[in-house]
Amino acid sequence: MTSRPPRPRWTKPALILGITSALGLLLISCAEVNRAVVAPPQIAGAKYAGSKQCVQCHADEASHFASATHSKLHLTDDKVGDTGCEACHGPASLHVTSGGAAGTIVNPKKSPEACFQCHLDKRSQFSLPNSHPVLAGKISCVDCHDVHSGNAIRGTGAALASQNDTCTSCHTQQKGPFVFEHRALKEGCVSCHNPHGSINQKMLVARDANLCLRCHLEAPSTPNAGQINANAINTSVQNHNARLMQGTCWSAGCHEAIHGSNANNHFRY
Ligand code: HEC
Ligand code: HEC
Ligand code: HEC
Ligand code: HEC
Ligand code: HEC
Ligand code: HEC
Ligand code: HEC
Repeated sequence: MTSRPPRPRWTKPALILGITSALGLLLISCAEVNRAVVAPPQIAGAKYAGSKQCVQCHADEASHFASATHSKLHLTDDKVGDTGCEACHGPASLHVTSGGAAGTIVNPKKSPEACFQCHLDKRSQFSLPNSHPVLAGKISCVDCHDVHSGNAIRGTGAALASQNDTCTSCHTQQKGPFVFEHRALKEGCVSCHNPHGSINQKMLVARDANLCLRCHLEAPSTPNAGQINANAINTSVQNHNARLMQGTCWSAGCHEAIHGSNANNHFRY
């Protein structure tokens, strides 16, 4: 028996978008960026109406948009016009004239295709063997990104909540508090995990001791030549060479409680 992988749920507009994605290239530009748009979202029979049209009915989304990362984007193609909102939602003339009829606008929450038109590399990241199940529709880009206000990467810039809070809102086990917390967490979950996907298990940025050695330096010139020298940030130097042959630092009965432990300051259970 073969089982097919779960498919993203297609909305009607998203389907239209997919079908028409063979269209030509448009260039978008703004002060700092110049990025190729594979194909802007399409809605059959609709034209661009302009962001000003949205305000009357969607004050919430429109009112803080000036602070949003994506408000700085402008498609320079004449045919597209002012596409602040419509860059993600597609041409909205039918939506506006019908007063918001169903099926007249793209909602990227239901499909990441609208994001992939400019962030094509993300499709491949989410296709890696260990990745967040965005393509399967279990979580979406907006679980971690803000599109209508502020910095698109939630938890950066002037935000009160940290970037880790986004992760631990779903991954409560890694939230702690731990009696002995691994201070690497202060550098962010993304210092060890790629948030989108990775070829490595558990979406790790490296699959072996190199994950740890980026912070816990190996310094062969010290008196403990050839050993892993944790002096850079930690004083207990032991010869780790024999241990490294037994497995990764976080398996092999060593630092399994890598995020933090309530039992042991070397992060063991
Ligand atoms: C005349 C009023 C009106 C205007 C103008 C309008 N909308 Fe809407 N819109 C609606 C209504 C009504 C709904 C559906 C009710 C709801 O879910 O709030 C809606 C729903 C939406 C949705 C959600 C669709 C879904 O399937 O979940 C999006 C996205 C949206 N509008 C974007 C826009 C954008 C972008 C503009 C400007 C280009 C715009 N709208 C202009 C009335 C309007
Ligand atoms: C960078 C892409 C992007 C841009 C630009 C953008 N949106 Fe959205 N919009 C989204 C995504 C993603 C969602 C789904 C988010 C959610 O439901 O939390 C969404 C949802 C919506 C909805 C539906 C909200 C609901 O509660 O169902 C409306 C209405 C909307 N956007 C209006 C706008 C307006 C108006 C603008 C311009 C001022 C705009 N959007 C600009 C990506 C974008
Ligand atoms: C029309 C093209 C376009 C679309 C559609 C688009 N983006 Fe972007 N996005 C960009 C560009 C260009 C940048 C770089 C902006 C910059 O560096 O200031 C960017 C930046 C970002 C960033 C990084 C912000 C940062 O601070 O580095 C995130 C996150 C992001 N986009 C998420 C999304 C998501 C999620 C969607 C779909 C809901 C989406 N984008 C749709 C063009 C787009
Ligand atoms: C599980 C949370 C999560 C999801 C889901 C997610 N992202 Fe991200 N994304 C992040 C984090 C965290 C960063 C910041 C990474 C860093 O600081 O190294 C980021 C960075 C980015 C960036 C800027 C840096 C880069 O890698 O280019 C873009 C663009 C982006 N994401 C787009 C997307 C798009 C498009 C989607 C949906 C298809 C998406 N992201 C889904 C968490 C997420
Ligand atoms: C909206 C909820 C949500 C958010 C937010 C979220 N995740 Fe996830 N995460 C998931 C889901 C769902 C899975 C897949 C679990 C599965 O397949 O059993 C997952 C899987 C993972 C895995 C792999 C676990 C494994 O067993 O292979 C890691 C690591 C991870 N997430 C880290 C992060 C990081 C880091 C962030 C913040 C940038 C984050 N997550 C934000 C829901 C979320
Ligand atoms: C010092 C590096 C490091 C940091 C920082 C880090 N992790 Fe991890 N994480 C790991 C390693 C290593 C594993 C694999 C553990 C294993 O396979 O037993 C892992 C596994 C996970 C898993 C899968 C757990 C399971 O039982 O399968 C999740 C979810 C996760 N991390 C989330 C997070 C979140 C959320 C943060 C930030 C609060 C974070 N990680 C910060 C190294 C790190
Ligand atoms: C982003 C940087 C960073 C990464 C990556 C990192 N660590 Fe750490 N680690 C730290 C910091 C900072 C401390 C706290 C040092 C201190 O308190 O002196 C620490 C402390 C420790 C300690 C406790 C030492 C003690 O004596 O208290 C252990 C054990 C440890 N790390 C193991 C690991 C392992 C195993 C990995 C790889 C899975 C790893 N670390 C990856 C930054 C990092």
